Amino acid sequence: MTDYYKKDLAYIHDVGFSDFALKSAPGIIEILQQNNIKAGLIVDLGCGSGLSAQEFIKAGYQVLGIDISESMIEIATKKVPEAEFKVESLFETKIPPCVAVTSIGECFNYLFDEGNNNHNLTTIFKSIYRALISRGLFIFDILEPFTRGKTQGFKEGEDWIVLYEKEEDREQKKLTRRIITLRKEGNGYKRDEEIHHVRLYEASEITEKLDQVGFQVQSKNNYGKFNLLQGHKVFIASKSYNQ
Ligand SMILES: C[S@@+](CC[C@H](N)C(=O)[O-])C[C@H]1O[C@@H](n2cnc3c(N)ncnc32)[C@H](O)[C@@H]1O
Repeated sequence: MTDYYKKDLAYIHDVGFSDFALKSAPGIIEILQQNNIKAGLIVDLGCGSGLSAQEFIKAGYQVLGIDISESMIEIATKKVPEAEFKVESLFETKIPPCVAVTSIGECFNYLFDEGNNNHNLTTIFKSIYRALISRGLFIFDILEPFTRGKTQGFKEGEDWIVLYEKEEDREQKKLTRRIITLRKEGNGYKRDEEIHHVRLYEASEITEKLDQVGFQVQSKNNYGKFNLLQGHKVFIASKSYNQ
């Protein structure tokens, strides 16, 4: 059992923070179709509660979703029974042959398992490259350094409240998020807390690593019509057909 995206935060992410995945998926599907990838297996790394998996299934693809959080995978399995899901670290999973690999919502930035360092990013990019069919696509987004300083905020829904404090350490290229969740239980609210450490990557570092592995890379600020906030970058990496 991991200490991240436990039951309450997984629930809150699914009901209160679905926008990012739901707005990204149409743009990703459009890119796949434009590249003549109209069917086949998509491996969704850091699939969360299955929001993007559901959109990919609706568009006619098969989906294998991987996430380190058991609670996220529990929601995903119920939401999208047509897809396959596994609780595993994306840095350790064996990626099967597929037409596309996606990773939505800065999943590569998280330092949830110790192996997430520079070396491992290259290792995972290599295994994604090997798993993709020729002309297959690897589409994902990351979080960059962006002097956010220290910020606090909250969001609430019908039966939950989430409070957060984020602090960016520009020098260390790290962001720490302290997240407090309150979820209605009986006449009161149940409290839980998580601390997420996130490593920030310059877009140029990511492009360089993808390039070294053999991908043809484009970076953008949007998934189709969905423009990402400043500090986020989308990568569309293609496995060129002559390799
Ligand atoms: C911001 S959420 C995005 C979830 C989903 N893609 C979405 O857009 O709704 C980041 C996800 O990455 C997952 N994650 C972080 N590090 C991971 C790792 N090493 N292996 C697998 N999943 C990971 C988290 O558990 C979480 O579900």
